[in-house]
Amino acid sequence: MLTQNFIIPGSRLTQQHAAIQTELDQAVAGVIRRAVFTPGPEVEAFEAEFAAYMGVKYAVGVSSGSAAVLLALKALNLQPGDEVISTPQVDISASAPVTQADARLVWVDIHPRTYNLDPDPLAAAITPRTRAVIAVHMYGNPAAMQPVLEIATRHNLPVIEDAALAVGATYRGRPVGSWGTLGCFSFSPGKILGAFGKAGIVVTNDAALAQQVRMWSSYGFDLASLKAIERGEIGAQFEYEAEGFNARLDELQAAVLRVKLRYLDEWVRRRRENAGLYREMLADLEPTHLFLPQDTPETEPAFRVFVIRSPRRDGLMRYLAGAGIWSGLNYVPPLHLQPAYGYLGYRPGDFPQTEQVARELLCLPTIPELSRQEVEKVGETIREYFLRS
Ligand SMILES: Cc1ncc(COP(=O)(O)O)c(C=O)c1O
Repeated sequence: MLTQNFIIPGSRLTQQHAAIQTELDQAVAGVIRRAVFTPGPEVEAFEAEFAAYMGVKYAVGVSSGSAAVLLALKALNLQPGDEVISTPQVDISASAPVTQADARLVWVDIHPRTYNLDPDPLAAAITPRTRAVIAVHMYGNPAAMQPVLEIATRHNLPVIEDAALAVGATYRGRPVGSWGTLGCFSFSPGKILGAFGKAGIVVTNDAALAQQVRMWSSYGFDLASLKAIERGEIGAQFEYEAEGFNARLDELQAAVLRVKLRYLDEWVRRRRENAGLYREMLADLEPTHLFLPQDTPETEPAFRVFVIRSPRRDGLMRYLAGAGIWSGLNYVPPLHLQPAYGYLGYRPGDFPQTEQVARELLCLPTIPELSRQEVEKVGETIREYFLRS
């Protein structure tokens, strides 16, 4: 069943859009009027506005979150045999780009309460062939960037933050995505900040890396030559630096994202409120019936969803569905147990924390469009399941 078909759904974009309909209509109409669809004024403005929001120097709009991760890796100039360390408890779009960039995935176990890269196994997995680390901020919850960066810096390794699920989250008061060498975001429609199709962005404070991301996303064009062609200069030539990708952000998506960016903080505030209510309502069920996500003063999650863990997860999921409430198994089973990654040779038991989390986790809806009564209804139904059944 589609998530929006539940009485309490995982997504209610029609409601989100109705609230800002006039602004969206104007933004889309402006793009149609100008009839510039490849990167133009909207993309340029969105890049500047997003960079300011993140507190970074450069932002390069790209065609998706998957493209963002791939382009960040390409910008680092990885070579065949180079190793990139990440975790298996992620969406395949956070891992496939590593292989697509000719590098080799090396996974480490996750922290059981943050669902993110655990600094201890990370330190142990570094070899002379390690070339980069990807820290994914799972479910909108910030990874422990300080220890991760300390370890990476000691080994002179760049860190890519995959913040596809975490736009608006902060770690020690600073936005996630702005801590590492490069930060990657997805703006697919169901994300916290969603476009009307595929969209993403890469942020960095490094001018050369930003140029590389732009070059790789623009077919591999020499950027000066591309600009000359776009300006319609007589005699402008098609010069290529690399065999790149067609992976730029388009004007329509940028125009929509510019409107939505103005509401992002408010939407994230409401997600945090919903998560806070779950925490309040479910606190006394811990640890007998379930575990709540880690709550530390150094992180302000964006709560793409609210993740709980319970050995009775499957029954709870059915009970919630029976009451018309959406809940999700994002991202189960973990990647090391998927046929797509059989070639890496990992086995059941290799990542005990990841595997236990995958058996127990359940994602609850946090969308800003939920009313307080609806969030309470979810909380009450969970209490009912554990205390009365
Ligand atoms: C952690 C993570 N990284 C990257 C992506 C890829 O984003 P996109 O769907 O825009 O390609 C996703 C998508 O959900 C994701 O969860």
